[in-house]
Amino acid sequence: MMSGESKYHEQLEHELAAFVQKEDAMLLNYGYQGIISIIDALLSRRDVVVYDKDNHACIYDGIRMHIGERFAFEHNDIDSFEKQMKKAIVAAEASGGGILVVTEGVFGMRGEQGILKEITDLKEKYNFRLLVDDAHGFGTLGETGAGAGEEQGVQDKIDLYFSTFAKSMASIGAFVAGNKAVLNYLRYNTRSQIFAKSLPMPLVIGNLKRLELLRKYPELKAKLWENVTKLQNGLRTKGFDLGHSNTCVTPVMMKGNVGEATALVYDLRENYDIFCSIVIYPVIPKGMMLLRLIPTAVHTDEDIEVTVNAFGEVAEKLKSGAYQIEAAFDVAP
Ligand SMILES: Cc1ncc(COP(=O)(O)O)c(C=O)c1O
Repeated sequence: MMSGESKYHEQLEHELAAFVQKEDAMLLNYGYQGIISIIDALLSRRDVVVYDKDNHACIYDGIRMHIGERFAFEHNDIDSFEKQMKKAIVAAEASGGGILVVTEGVFGMRGEQGILKEITDLKEKYNFRLLVDDAHGFGTLGETGAGAGEEQGVQDKIDLYFSTFAKSMASIGAFVAGNKAVLNYLRYNTRSQIFAKSLPMPLVIGNLKRLELLRKYPELKAKLWENVTKLQNGLRTKGFDLGHSNTCVTPVMMKGNVGEATALVYDLRENYDIFCSIVIYPVIPKGMMLLRLIPTAVHTDEDIEVTVNAFGEVAEKLKSGAYQIEAAFDVAP
């Protein structure tokens, strides 16, 4: 709207829309601020929002800007969804607004897909529109890489499909896709894109190339999944708890306090050459740590074997108390 838009931006928007099987798409400078602003643009004070309790912080922040009614359902729980939807219908009838459901294609901490099929099956029974944040599903799930909706056979029932470029594209920026009328509305009402410059040109050109790689080389996605399967099977065989992951996100849950978690990832990074992100309280319950691994298509069998063995070793050290803060940093108690 302001400046910086070019034919390359438009080309990327067209190619993204085609890739995720939607009519139109709009680029966003960042996923986090983009989705906040999209939710803000979509909802008027009369509208009602229904959302999964485990949604990403950026969705929560978007919903916090909404001054109308909101109802949260238990994570991936269709009975809870219906219960909240019934309340939403009453509220929307009273206010004269519509209902927006917001969930994720892949929940990035647990690695579980959102229950898009179950939710969209209820579209005939209840009148709502669906916005899906598919940050981890884009490029990795579905036959063509169009994401969790394609994987579950319901891509056409997602009204607005959102993804960041920060995962499978290993870049910066994001996009939202849907039908032309809604996208046109968003172009004129998404404040984070109106009162800011557009996505910088080097990122646009880079993202065009990355999208081309996703499209032209399906063997990359096949290799990614080969690596995911090897890593997850290897870890499960060693007795690790990976929850119910059915995506590339591989969460390894272990018991330990914050000090132990810090010492363990430090050991992994410095002595085993393995980087992984760590999640602790308050994102997960106190006394637990979640080590999040996400393999890529360029990891080798050796990388995976080294990782599985290293996890076996650090888990043993954790159990023996080696990462208790005094022991790990050699500090007198
Ligand atoms: C589910 C989800 N939505 C949105 C974002 C934010 O995207 P960005 O990093 O492009 O701001 C992330 C993290 O990258 C994410 O995991």
